[in-house]
Amino acid sequence: MKIEGQAALVTGGASGLGEATARELARLGAKVAVLDRNAELAAKVAAEISGVACVCDITDTESVNAALDKAAAAHGPARILMNVAGIGSAKRIVGKDGNPAPLEDFVRVVNINLVGGYNMARLFAARCAKLDALDNGEKGVMLFTASVAAFDGQVGQQAYSASKGGLVGMTLPMARDLAQHAIRVCTVAPGLFATPLLMELPEAVQQSLAASIPFPPRLGKPSEFAELACHIVTNGHLNGEVIRLDGALRMAPR
Ligand SMILES: NC(=O)c1ccc[n+]([C@@H]2O[C@H](COP(=O)([O-])OP(=O)(O)OC[C@H]3O[C@@H](n4cnc5c(N)ncnc54)[C@H](O)[C@@H]3O)[C@@H](O)[C@H]2O)c1
Repeated sequence: MKIEGQAALVTGGASGLGEATARELARLGAKVAVLDRNAELAAKVAAEISGVACVCDITDTESVNAALDKAAAAHGPARILMNVAGIGSAKRIVGKDGNPAPLEDFVRVVNINLVGGYNMARLFAARCAKLDALDNGEKGVMLFTASVAAFDGQVGQQAYSASKGGLVGMTLPMARDLAQHAIRVCTVAPGLFATPLLMELPEAVQQSLAASIPFPPRLGKPSEFAELACHIVTNGHLNGEVIRLDGALRMAPR
């Protein structure tokens, strides 16, 4: 799908990988809606790319529908959804104090990263399926953001890995489901990227993380994620696939 002129939605668009994706889409001529629960940062990014900020919580159907309505009113119906919003977590299943990990923590992470992603996907897909196909036969395309932790999760990453593994697992069946509606679905599994999350770690920790990446031995740039995300939109034969973007990194147990 040609990006220029299309209306696009980016969840998590207020920060990090989502922000870079929103900026790249805008640079390529898309009309971008920044969907994020951080109102202040969403407004800032949207203003800088002449887009629209739509504050929402991806786990809350009412707020997502309101955001989709606001985005459609500003830009027309969206054919591109970049699901980038997500949270991290680290909790050992049996803590150092011998107590079991709090179940609420596992539920919270899976609810945002996996259930929230599915919620966005279903609400977007139902709207997109009603649109006419473009000249190339396509109606829409969406992307999920998993993580290499879906495959090689580290100590303490059960909730995060389960949530990202869930996105990986539903990529193909969702692509199969949505084939009849001419909507493609792909997932990117990033390695270690230089986003606010990692940039807040001490310099020495950042360097040791970077050194663990075979090549290039540096953290990924958010712009590199954004380039791949936009390539998935433009390459009409990419569908039902999960792509690692990690410099050949395979995470160690800890
Ligand atoms: N940075 C990395 O190295 C890395 C590696 C692998 C995967 N990822 C994944 O990439 C995505 C983006 O990560 P990032 O590093 O850019 O993080 P980030 O914290 O910089 O950005 C995440 C954004 O998502 C938003 N968000 C969180 N929960 C939300 C909700 N319920 N509703 C709406 N918005 C919500 C936040 O407000 C924030 O703006 C995440 O899904 C993360 O798991 C990141």
